[in-house]
Amino acid sequence: MPSERAPVVVVMGVSGSGKTTVGSQLARRLHVVYGEADDFHPQSNVDKMAAGQPLDDDDRRPWLEAIGGWLAERRGEGAVATCSALKRGYRDQLRSRAPSTVFLHLHGDREVLEERMGRRSGHFMPTSLLASQLDILEPLASDEQGVTADIARSPDEIVEQFLVWWQDQGDE
Ligand SMILES: Nc1ncnc2c1ncn2[C@@H]1O[C@H](COP(=O)(O)OP(=O)(O)OP(=O)(O)O)[C@@H](O)[C@H]1O
Ligand SMILES: [Mg+2]
Repeated sequence: MPSERAPVVVVMGVSGSGKTTVGSQLARRLHVVYGEADDFHPQSNVDKMAAGQPLDDDDRRPWLEAIGGWLAERRGEGAVATCSALKRGYRDQLRSRAPSTVFLHLHGDREVLEERMGRRSGHFMPTSLLASQLDILEPLASDEQGVTADIARSPDEIVEQFLVWWQDQGDE
């Protein structure tokens, strides 16, 4: 039964949706390791981003492979990683390395996202970037293992919703 072991989870969503907040809290609740997507970029991507150049899908491939590899190594013991994973194709790349990955999609209204980002210090993201992320976003399809949570709820409630969902997976 899946729920008897710790899951391998990717917390996904657009920037400011709460991936770091919810993901680190979920990892603590599950007593598993936590990984931040940004830490998996090869140096070439870090350099590109530092130069203000957007990454393309070829740049993202080694990054997604690194995250997927990290998740695959933790199959059985469980893990939580953040990754925007906005496109189905990105999630397919993660699953190709770590097939048992389940997703927690943090989904919110544009107004809530803008308000959250406005409150956050040390981060700057123009509204146009949020709009483009929302355009790119492909929500979880019915054949993808995972659950979608409304970010209007508190991080505690979202973590609880995920744990209940995961428990249900074991009862089917
Ligand atoms: N469910 C929530 N309810 C209220 N505030 C939240 C919630 N989740 C996150 N926040 C707040 O929203 C802001 C953005 O959260 P966070 O940094 O976790 O998002 P993120 O998805 O990791 O962003 P990024 O993509 O830039 O890494 C933070 O100020 C955080 O405290
Ligand atoms: Mg984050």
